[in-house]
Amino acid sequence: MTEVPEHLLKKAAEARARLSGEGGDAASDDAPAAEAALAASAPVPAAAAVPAEPEPEPEPIPDTPMVAAAKARKTIPVWVMPVLLFLPIWAIYYVGYLENPPTTGGFAFEGEEVYAGSCAGCHGGGGAGGSGRQLNGGEVLLTFPVYTAGDAYDGLAGHIAWVANGSAGTEAAEGTNLYGSADRPAGQRTVGSFGSSMGGFASSLSVEELAASVFHERSQFGGDQIDADGIAEELEVLEEFVHVAEEEGIDNLGGLTVAEIHELLQQARGAGGGSESASE
Ligand code: HEC
Repeated sequence: MTEVPEHLLKKAAEARARLSGEGGDAASDDAPAAEAALAASAPVPAAAAVPAEPEPEPEPIPDTPMVAAAKARKTIPVWVMPVLLFLPIWAIYYVGYLENPPTTGGFAFEGEEVYAGSCAGCHGGGGAGGSGRQLNGGEVLLTFPVYTAGDAYDGLAGHIAWVANGSAGTEAAEGTNLYGSADRPAGQRTVGSFGSSMGGFASSLSVEELAASVFHERSQFGGDQIDADGIAEELEVLEEFVHVAEEEGIDNLGGLTVAEIHELLQQARGAGGGSESASE
């Protein structure tokens, strides 16, 4: 609510007094003239008086300590900005994850990537071999066959142990230079028989990466030694194997024997691997 300044009220009162004073005789015979005089005299000095006597600025009220503190504080810490920026990206990613958890596609894709990065240099992108043995055309599964319950040799366990330990590591862990299936056509493999040796990957690959590279070799290079059902079953077992190893606190497969890996795989097979479970 604005109060009419004192001086303006005073001016208005003066104007009214002037009008009624003069108007004693003027009101009767010359009212329009008096009105004109009022219009001419009263507003003009009033308007002129405003800039002459400007209303004094109200004294600024000093801030209380609380208000001063509130003004001094930055309202949003700087680190919050990137967090807020990434929140929607994370949300999209998370929803995508829920809709499509990394199972089949993820594991196979990971295997392809690991193989290309760590194995293809010696074994060839298509597994045809080079400075490493030929794996394709079913060769890899002749050495490490698909396991069926009751088999004397677990080829899947042998394959994992081989990649984890490499040539020298396999010999050290097993106490023999023989590896792979004893029933391999033309005889069981012996370490170093290819003419050069392979290093183990237990410390350079995670359990999951290693299992994924094994899956890639078996599913892509297995030829007629494995069919689609066999591939689906091994995929399930290998994924479960990664979980079992994690539960057992094993993050490095180095030094484990084929028999020890077979034990872990049996746990994985018992936990749904090998059965036609409703995962897809
Ligand atoms: C430095 C070259 C090199 C790299 C890299 C390499 N290998 Fe090998 N690989 C070999 C050699 C050499 C042999 C034969 C070793 C021997 O006779 O002792 C072999 C043998 C194998 C075998 C046994 C094949 C058979 O039938 O006997 C498998 C399986 C295998 N490698 C898988 C892998 C995987 C999986 C990777 C990647 C994670 C990999 N290799 C990386 C050189 C390599």
